[in-house]
Amino acid sequence: MKYSALKGVHDILPPDVYLWQKVESLAQGVFSVYGFQEIRLPIIESTDIFTRSIGETTDIVEKEMYTFPDRAGRSITLRPEGTASVVRAYVENHLHNLPSPQKFFYAGPMFRYERPQKGRFRQFYQIGIEAFGLESPEFDAEILSMLKVFLERAGVKGLNFEINSIGCEDCRPAFRKALTGFFSDKLNDLCPDCQVRYEHNPLRILDCKVERCIELRKGAPRVTDFLCDECRSHFESVLSSLRILDIPYEVNPTLVRGLDYYTRTTFEVTSEQLGSQKAVAAGGRYDRLVEEFGGPETPAIGFAMGMERLTTLLKESGGILIPSPDIFIATLGKRAVSEASVIAGELRAKGLWTEVGYDGSSLKSQLRKADRLASSYAFIIGDNEISTGKFKWKNLKDSSQGETDISGLGDFISSRFPDAVKPR
Ligand code: HAM
Repeated sequence: MKYSALKGVHDILPPDVYLWQKVESLAQGVFSVYGFQEIRLPIIESTDIFTRSIGETTDIVEKEMYTFPDRAGRSITLRPEGTASVVRAYVENHLHNLPSPQKFFYAGPMFRYERPQKGRFRQFYQIGIEAFGLESPEFDAEILSMLKVFLERAGVKGLNFEINSIGCEDCRPAFRKALTGFFSDKLNDLCPDCQVRYEHNPLRILDCKVERCIELRKGAPRVTDFLCDECRSHFESVLSSLRILDIPYEVNPTLVRGLDYYTRTTFEVTSEQLGSQKAVAAGGRYDRLVEEFGGPETPAIGFAMGMERLTTLLKESGGILIPSPDIFIATLGKRAVSEASVIAGELRAKGLWTEVGYDGSSLKSQLRKADRLASSYAFIIGDNEISTGKFKWKNLKDSSQGETDISGLGDFISSRFPDAVKPR
């Protein structure tokens, strides 16, 4: 019987995995100088954590969650995103009692039962950040600036920063009224889901993926025309801070995002190279969510990047730097194998990737193997070398070769691999 991974779920294999590691460590490096600390969260949560925050009438909650009863009959969900869990952890662990702001980053798999296609998976990976306690528009700009710095340092080019404000609970009722007014004579033509959304959450009609609804919403009222004075002034200050920080942006008044928890600033970073699933990162403010989860009034903002989309862009913009062994020790004879395993231990202790030819094949075939692995050096150790106390070496990059005393191995290594760990 042949097994295969589930639909929409994928393995991350070498050499791609090196790119993933590079991106993850770069994210950690960049985010930490902005004061973000890592938080590790469970992959399963109580279902209501997501229904309450993401919203009952969103696509994610209505159609995409992996929800199942556990053995005690509790409703459990594989997390479709990270924000709700970070907020749950923030409130549950009373992190609001710590000095403000509190800033976190996380990385890991998320699960959505979506129709798989290029750039869209059922298990996908995000790196995300969430910051609690700062309301100021300059901070929104700082978050976007950090995202830009990270993406530039990762080497992604040709990105668009799209930004919008979707206001607060004070401006929402007027916008909602304008939307229901706009759709009232189109109601019967909307998809069945949007007919329900019309009643409960008309904003979500703007996010529907059904072709008919996309057509019907042309000319719909724009949320930015309904902002209250405070939200308008916040948004204008975000935009002026972006200009000061030299972040090119495009205001996109249709950017309402597919999750209900957002207030004020929303944004997406998109790339035309990605095709229809073009958002590589997305996020915004969610100033009410901590309170809704039972915590104190706490403004908050965050974003998440899709690792599959990000690594796709990186692969297109340049090759993956594939690591390869530093030294391959080819062995000739039983004694040589034991000697080689001791030498390999010393080399690995210096941080050098070392492979040993354990399989007893001919020298020619071992050297071919070293070449195939793209090893930098081959060492050759046979009974003859052991009795003379020497080993032969070959530089497989420039084809130079020579012979060195086994006792002089330390000097040989420090002259060829200056980054190797110095002996204590
Ligand atoms: P989101 O827009 O649902 O936001 O997802 C963020 C990013 O995750 C997307 O821009 C995309 O790159 C990636 N992504 C989403 N779904 C998939 C999928 N099915 N396959 C591959 N990649 C995908 C959030 O998740 C929010 N929690 C972001 C946030 C953090 N807002 C505030 N803080």
